[in-house]
Amino acid sequence: MKNILNIALFTLLVSVAYTGVAQILPQLEGKAPPKVEFGANTSPEDLAVAGGEIFETNCTQCHAMSEDGRCPPLGNIGALAHDRARERGNSFTDVDYLVEAMCKPGDYLVEGYGNIMPAQQRSMKPGQLQAVVAYLQTLGGDATLAGTDTEVFERFDCGAASGGDGGGGGAAVAEVKPVGEPSEVWTEFGCDGCHALDTDEAKTGPTLKGIGSRMDKWEILDALLNPDAVIAEGDDAGVMEGAIASRDFYSRMSGKDYKAFVDWLSAK
Ligand code: HEC
Ligand code: HEC
Repeated sequence: MKNILNIALFTLLVSVAYTGVAQILPQLEGKAPPKVEFGANTSPEDLAVAGGEIFETNCTQCHAMSEDGRCPPLGNIGALAHDRARERGNSFTDVDYLVEAMCKPGDYLVEGYGNIMPAQQRSMKPGQLQAVVAYLQTLGGDATLAGTDTEVFERFDCGAASGGDGGGGGAAVAEVKPVGEPSEVWTEFGCDGCHALDTDEAKTGPTLKGIGSRMDKWEILDALLNPDAVIAEGDDAGVMEGAIASRDFYSRMSGKDYKAFVDWLSAK
């Protein structure tokens, strides 16, 4: 298991450095990005820096720092995790809570929110999950999780990403079929059966023609995460959530998938 994690951490270095290049290239042409070595001995601080970048890509579609939308704000989660851990039972630590929140989000739902957070081990490698947890600790607290702290990840089935490198050793994670391009998501989950996209035709649901000019991206995401918050009039009210959930929409869409799909809808 240790070996797999080391490999994952190394891969993380490459991808983070690469993203770094892409982001700073326009401003810093010709300058190489700072090099950070990752491995089992990586310090909590270095892990947290890498985790911040991964967080931007995988989590900010849903989570804001202070704004309370469909998902809880995470700006103070490093401190809050200690309180949540106490609610979970006296053997829980803040790290236990954060790892559980990432890999078994349905086991404890923050009051007032639905069970729609995707289990993160399906779209992230173990090293990336570690980095994100260290980063979450820094939001209102200090990172303590180091590259060697792998036991807690195994305990919450957070050890082996499906389809990831290796896979052996960790607890089995249900195989989740990745979703395709946004246009494929549109048909695969039956959106096209209930919504027109290019015409004014009202089907079971309202037409989504011109949706990008009526709703901002946050509102579109909201409509997907909590479809029945604004109930359409008539007998068909409230059918959307059941229809897409029964096709595993919520367990198959990752943070990145939501972003691509909402961008696509918004451009309509
Ligand atoms: C599709 C939207 C969505 C995405 C993407 C998402 N989350 Fe969540 N998350 C939620 C919702 C909704 C909740 C509240 C329900 C629950 O407890 O599972 C939540 C809860 C949490 C909590 C518990 C918060 C608390 O107050 O105790 C943490 C921590 C968290 N998410 C971290 C993350 C991280 C880190 C990522 C990215 C790696 C992420 N989430 C991606 C929707 C999302
Ligand atoms: C079984 C029919 C059904 C399916 C399948 C369905 N929807 Fe809906 N949708 C509705 C209905 C009905 C509403 C009106 C709100 C309500 O009653 O829940 C709605 C509302 C919406 C809204 C808000 C529109 C507005 O003007 O407020 C959006 C956005 C949306 N759906 C997108 C989608 C997407 C994307 C999919 C596929 C992932 C999808 N829907 C699948 C029936 C459906």
